[in-house]
Amino acid sequence: MENIVQARKYALVTGASSGIGRELAALLAREGYALVLVARRTEPMQALAAQLEQAHGTTSVVVGADLGSPEGVRSVVREVTERQLEIDVLVNNAGFGLAGPFTELPNEPQLGMIDLNIRALTALTRELVPAMVARRRGYVLNVASSAAFQPGPLMAVYYASKAYVLSFSAALHEELRGSGVKVTALCPGFTETEFAARAAEHQKPRLFSGPLGKLDARQVAEAGYRALKQGRAVVVPGFTNRLGAWFAPVTPLAVKLRITRYFNASES
Ligand SMILES: NC(=O)c1ccc[n+]([C@@H]2O[C@H](COP(=O)([O-])OP(=O)(O)OC[C@H]3O[C@@H](n4cnc5c(N)ncnc54)[C@H](OP(=O)(O)O)[C@@H]3O)[C@@H](O)[C@H]2O)c1
Repeated sequence: MENIVQARKYALVTGASSGIGRELAALLAREGYALVLVARRTEPMQALAAQLEQAHGTTSVVVGADLGSPEGVRSVVREVTERQLEIDVLVNNAGFGLAGPFTELPNEPQLGMIDLNIRALTALTRELVPAMVARRRGYVLNVASSAAFQPGPLMAVYYASKAYVLSFSAALHEELRGSGVKVTALCPGFTETEFAARAAEHQKPRLFSGPLGKLDARQVAEAGYRALKQGRAVVVPGFTNRLGAWFAPVTPLAVKLRITRYFNASES
């Protein structure tokens, strides 16, 4: 396995203020990376930066930015460019979901999922990967979801956004084969983070009560990091989720839709 750590190589992690992103940042710090931490809430990132400095001597740049807006994405790129940071690892993790019937959920947050889960991820990849290609070295970890493997009635936009992330990442993985830049899609199933609270604002899906199990954010981060180092195109942590991903292509669409609808519906 290649040792991907060098002095003053930066890992940029979006959505580093909580959950999977926070765990990925901590892991990358442990591996010797300096960090660029990005999210809207700066306080938890400052606290994480202080903790990682004490534990590993990690240098962190904290960037408060709303990646749901093009200006937010631009401000992150500006920070990287002005400070001349060499980004060796890009982790596109920031994202959110929203459960409920498409026609009843408000329009703005549904479009917001497209802005964050798709647009910001694509824009940051386009901005930061060419320098990796020029250096013939780099890693991109895009956080998709087990939701990427089938359409998701009652979370329609979220599932579709994650299908985009998986498709985009796999395509880029192949495009960049031999370039020295590795691209991996991380596809977790339901994971214990702040995700559920935000996604269940209008309706709480049955899935969030954990009938298919819950993953731990640290384990998800470790699986993602391992796959990244190994240069794998896709990783699905957790046995049940892997089963789902294996069977999805051979399951009739109507069956997939009914099953997914069942788990996305509220219990009451
Ligand atoms: N938890 C799950 O069950 C699960 C399953 C599969 C995939 N995922 C994916 O995993 C990724 C991480 O989610 P998580 O589970 O760790 O949830 P989380 O604890 O809610 O973390 C989401 C992160 O994204 C950031 N974020 C949200 N909106 C943002 C915005 N407009 N601009 C910048 N940052 C923003 C949040 O920070 P601020 O609020 O401070 O901005 C937070 O750091 C997401 O892409 C999610 O879709 C989660």
